[in-house]
Amino acid sequence: MSNNGPYSTSNGCPVFNPYASQMIGTPGPLLLQDTHLIDLIAHFDRERIPERVVHAKGAGAFGEFVVTDDVTDLTCADFLSTVGKKTKTFTRFSTVGGESGSADTARDPRGFATKFYTDEGIIDWVYNNTPVFFIRNPSKFPLFIHTQKRNPQTHLKDADMFWDYLVQNPEAIHQLMILFSDRGTPDGVRFMNGYSGHTYKWVKKDGSFNYVQIHMITDQGIKNLNNEEALKLAGENPDHSQQDLFESIQKGEYPSWTCYVQVMTPEQAEKLDFSIFDLTKVWSHKDFPLRRFGKLTLNKNPDNYFADVEQAAFSPSNTVPGWESSADPVLQSRLFSYPDTHRHRLGANFYQIPVNKCPVMHNPFMRDGPMCVDGNSGSEPNYPSSFKPLNYSKGPALAGVSDHEKWVGTATAFHWSATDAEFKQATALWNVFGKTGQQDALVHNVVAHASNIKSAELKKAVVDMFGKVSPELGKRLGAEL
Ligand code: NDP
Ligand code: HEM
Repeated sequence: MSNNGPYSTSNGCPVFNPYASQMIGTPGPLLLQDTHLIDLIAHFDRERIPERVVHAKGAGAFGEFVVTDDVTDLTCADFLSTVGKKTKTFTRFSTVGGESGSADTARDPRGFATKFYTDEGIIDWVYNNTPVFFIRNPSKFPLFIHTQKRNPQTHLKDADMFWDYLVQNPEAIHQLMILFSDRGTPDGVRFMNGYSGHTYKWVKKDGSFNYVQIHMITDQGIKNLNNEEALKLAGENPDHSQQDLFESIQKGEYPSWTCYVQVMTPEQAEKLDFSIFDLTKVWSHKDFPLRRFGKLTLNKNPDNYFADVEQAAFSPSNTVPGWESSADPVLQSRLFSYPDTHRHRLGANFYQIPVNKCPVMHNPFMRDGPMCVDGNSGSEPNYPSSFKPLNYSKGPALAGVSDHEKWVGTATAFHWSATDAEFKQATALWNVFGKTGQQDALVHNVVAHASNIKSAELKKAVVDMFGKVSPELGKRLGAEL
């Protein structure tokens, strides 16, 4: 589109007055031949694309990742191959449950998704601001999310639905402890950490690997709102965090995060008292120390929100050689879910949209489809032609398949249900809250939310669940609820 020529219809025909419509009489009935008016209104009628089913409210910025420390003993990923190597990035932050116009300060986990445009393809870190999550059975995701959204009849947020799910599925307790601490209401996305949550694999050239977890620690320091500040801001400025991010970058105060990796060998993983494929658990900092490897800095606001932020399509399935998914079943299902939802939300050619475009992609076998706007691979053969063979890289037959992991077993319908062991790390966190003065806030925040529960039995079940974290916590909640 030309930015310099005269204002025109979509076919470029100049229009002398954007307000004028063709009619018989002044005013009088409109004429169907008024292409300008029809063009304008018909396009307006189609301005909205489906909002993301989760993480609909978000803000984003371009930036740069730089390698600060050598990790070539752990991975052959090219973008991590040299200290000082820089990679262009795009990051989108979000809340999870609310609609695209909802308040930034809602008590919710925050999404922290970053696209790295590397020389070996795009890798997306589709992370949250919490190191654990509510579920470890993938089929629970839609069911859990329904309970955090709106009641199907009243279309209202529903505290009974919210807590009814959680008391039935107490593997969520660790995440709940974080959500109801003041980290559940960060004072803007600049002041929170990002975590892979899932276990991934860093793989070397010989195919050997270690399990890893990524931590992105904010260089701005953690800064949270208390429950009342968050509620007040939700009314006064629902875009508080989006505004803070945009204006800080505009002023040249570029937010940054120092990136660390926790490393575990497959042998160490077998000796743990929990599974590293369990998304509700963290790895001890003491046993698996954080090793620094990079820094992410956000330094450019997008010129156009819709083009870059709304159309950004992240997926944990976007990865590069040297970085693979683990067998975590939630992660495995996410590999399917994101490209699937992008095909629905943005169309089959979503990867051609500039913010999603990979400069090194070469696949003339993916052709045609709606909104194919990148030349459609021109005259290249659309099958593996012997007349014009493609170059194929050396390595495993399929990206993400390593020879070093072998699985043998019986097909089983497995529900990874909760036991009392789920409470161990939640209790440890309650004890951390004791040392860091966060216990009162947790009690206050749970009471503020759970006092909306209508069912007396459900209120009691909530108190009992937190009582398993700590009898003292249960007692305090029981007294206040
Ligand atoms: P440590 O003293 O090693 O770790 C305490 C950690 O708790 C801090 O480093 C911080 O993680 C985290 N923390 C503090 N306040 C909050 C909060 N409001 N919400 C979420 N996390 C918070 O403790 P232990 O090894 O005794 O472990 C105790 C508990 O600490 C664990 O059960 C787990 O909940 C949490 N923890 C978290 C880890 C992580 O991966 N983030 C690792 C180890 C423990 P951070 O540095 O990430 O801000
Ligand atoms: C967004 C599915 C778990 C982080 C989304 C979207 C879907 C989805 C459908 C919308 C994507 C879009 O329209 O562009 C799922 C499923 C999960 C799951 C099925 C589990 C089975 C998780 C977990 C994390 C996470 C565990 C973090 C560790 C995110 C983030 C976004 C997102 C950050 C927003 C991406 C953006 O900014 O566009 N998820 N999700 N999700 N999810 Fe998940």
